Amino acid sequence: MNSSFILTRSFPHTLKAFLQFSRMRNFSTSLSSEIKIPTVKHAVSKYFLPQQIRKIQTLDFCGVKEKVYESSDWPKEKYQKFFKNDTIAMIGYGSQGNGQSLNARDNGLNVIVGVREGGNSWNKALKDGWQPGKDLFSINDALERGTIINNLLSDAAQKELWPQFIKHLTKGKTLCFCHGFSIVYKEYTNVIPPTDIDVIMVAPKGSGKTLRSLFLDGRGMNSSVAIFQDISGDAIDKAVAFGVAIGSAYLYETTFQREVFADLVGERGVLLGAIQGLFLAQYEVLRARGHPPSEAFNETVEEATQSLYPLIGQNGMDWMYDACSTTARRGALDWYKHFYEANKPVFEKLYSSVADGSETRRVLEKNSSPTYAEDLEEELKEIRESEIWRTGKVVRKLRPEKKSN
Ligand SMILES: NC(=O)c1ccc[n+]([C@@H]2O[C@H](COP(=O)([O-])OP(=O)(O)OC[C@H]3O[C@@H](n4cnc5c(N)ncnc54)[C@H](OP(=O)(O)O)[C@@H]3O)[C@@H](O)[C@H]2O)c1
Repeated sequence: MNSSFILTRSFPHTLKAFLQFSRMRNFSTSLSSEIKIPTVKHAVSKYFLPQQIRKIQTLDFCGVKEKVYESSDWPKEKYQKFFKNDTIAMIGYGSQGNGQSLNARDNGLNVIVGVREGGNSWNKALKDGWQPGKDLFSINDALERGTIINNLLSDAAQKELWPQFIKHLTKGKTLCFCHGFSIVYKEYTNVIPPTDIDVIMVAPKGSGKTLRSLFLDGRGMNSSVAIFQDISGDAIDKAVAFGVAIGSAYLYETTFQREVFADLVGERGVLLGAIQGLFLAQYEVLRARGHPPSEAFNETVEEATQSLYPLIGQNGMDWMYDACSTTARRGALDWYKHFYEANKPVFEKLYSSVADGSETRRVLEKNSSPTYAEDLEEELKEIRESEIWRTGKVVRKLRPEKKSN
């Protein structure tokens, strides 16, 4: 395959962010030996002329070689042609269902949405212009009509509704996921696809809301792409073309297992869990030592999110350190090691809990409860009503841009 990677002008920020993100990743070579997932095959694609310059490259990230697909490899006319005989059934209309369905529809694919009738998602889809009987259906009807079935239900609902899915997964159809969860933890989910269909994954690395807003800005989001079963021989082309159609900028190759392990660790860790724990710990110490709420909040959250973290996003940690005073830099260089030592064992414990399935069992148990939505709201209310975040509400009102409004 002729591999040539051309950096387009439209995505320098996304690529930069991707490079930084990938550099920070430390791929484990000791993934659970119980789950064997095949890696992506690299067949020469019949959809490209031999002389065509492909926008794919194996990049070297600090000695680890990774394959990256670029959206310009699949111009709109090309994927429209590829999917011209397909009906894309987006099952579920939460954050991902909403963003992916609207992007694919705007990109000219034949999209239908399948959700339970009368539910929140149904009403949201109606507001977005999907029409019952035309492109909005019950889950069962959408599964029947779809040739490419994109499973965007909550992970717990994917387990619950699997018996409905399996009836419609006939030869020639394709099953797509945007998370490795259901397939990798099959012993808990019972999600075991028929062996005669393609099973692919396109997992945008961000919320569906951001996927949509980046699309509307004429940009794109980075996604992971993986193949679980390639029966047609076209699975990787299909997955990348589909990924581009739903709004991906760059797609980096992974496996179902690596995606779900990294994702579950990330959201429990730095992205959501660890960040709340760290903010709260510092805030409480400042408060206990006599600092008023606004000062504790400003030094913990406001300066981080408004000033320093965007600098990390733009050019990396060293660059952010360099933008700070010599006093701040000296202290940070001494103290980051203490935080590293305190936190590394917690991350090790977290990874093990993901790899041995404990996290999955908890997710399925909690999120399958009939009172799941109310229970979640109670826990979020506890965070919302805690002093730190009530203070945040007041501080946010005092941001300079609010004053000029
Ligand atoms: N959110 C993200 O940032 C993100 C990023 C990457 C990947 N993912 C993955 O994308 C998938 C979808 O996640 P999401 O965040 O978009 O949505 P979600 O909030 O997890 O799920 C929402 C959808 O599931 C439906 N649903 C839930 N329980 C159901 C049941 N018992 N019967 C029928 N439908 C049911 C909801 O319909 P109703 O409104 O009718 O309840 C709604 O359409 C998951 O695999 C997730 O891990 C998410």
